[in-house]
Amino acid sequence: MQRAARGGWYPLCTFPNPARERTAPASARGYAAGVPRIVVLTGAGISAESGVPTFRGPDGLWEGHRVEDVATPEAFDADPETVQRFYDARRAALTTVEPNRAHRALAELEAAVGDDLLVVTQNIDDLHERAGSQRVVHMHGELLSALCRACGRRTPFRGALSDHPPCPVCGAVDLRPDVVWFGEVPYRMQDIQQALASCELFVSVGTSGAVYPAAGFVQLARVYGARTLELNLEPSEGSPYFHEARHGPAGLLVPDWVSQLVD
Ligand code: OAD
Repeated sequence: MQRAARGGWYPLCTFPNPARERTAPASARGYAAGVPRIVVLTGAGISAESGVPTFRGPDGLWEGHRVEDVATPEAFDADPETVQRFYDARRAALTTVEPNRAHRALAELEAAVGDDLLVVTQNIDDLHERAGSQRVVHMHGELLSALCRACGRRTPFRGALSDHPPCPVCGAVDLRPDVVWFGEVPYRMQDIQQALASCELFVSVGTSGAVYPAAGFVQLARVYGARTLELNLEPSEGSPYFHEARHGPAGLLVPDWVSQLVD
């Protein structure tokens, strides 16, 4: 199966452009001189306080579902109805949750520093966007998108794939969730690597550091010379690789950190 190399309907991320000047921020909060180029990697922990379950906690999403039953291409081939219903339920649940203080703080930071911030998220919810972030890379895909297995196009989607809707582009009835499953290549890896190579600060928020390639971003950023900071509820597998780790809920840690950068 061919996957779309880049999202057809997503604005291409322009970050980073080594040739560009730092942009003037469009923010009432003003521009904090000296704010570095920042890449923020987010994981399930940033959405936990919104009520979206994490993957590996005691109430982890995989509980009751073996990962190989719902998050692999083989599972989809073997039992597409179960997989479609699993993601349909998660898509429907998005309407019951709202962005929290951590999402909003990252949106405020973007408003202050413009394209000096890129959020790379492993999350497939839309809470960063609903908080106001515009420069977001969904490396594991998005619930509100469907991928046509016939034509390879990604299209916005809000309904139930278990209803077998046709692809709006080619008409084939062969849509699957536009999420990256185990064994598949995450989206936008080239853009992400370029951003990691250029950033001066890499911050990881609410991720266990258990799943590669995202788990390796901290080491890549360090190799390229970035300072690295982990903001997570508790020490993670990745903690030892960061210059600094702060532990606590993202809803407190992220606004605190952002307020240190912009006043
Ligand atoms: P995990 O569930 O593995 O880890 C969530 C992390 O968030 C844990 O380290 C928690 O301690 C932390 N956490 C929980 N609540 C928090 C809070 N309120 N504030 C801050 N941190 C909190 O989720 P991910 O690391 O995102 O991939 O998982 C990575 C990938 O594994 C997912 O994108 C998904 C999954 O398999 C795919 O589906 C391809």
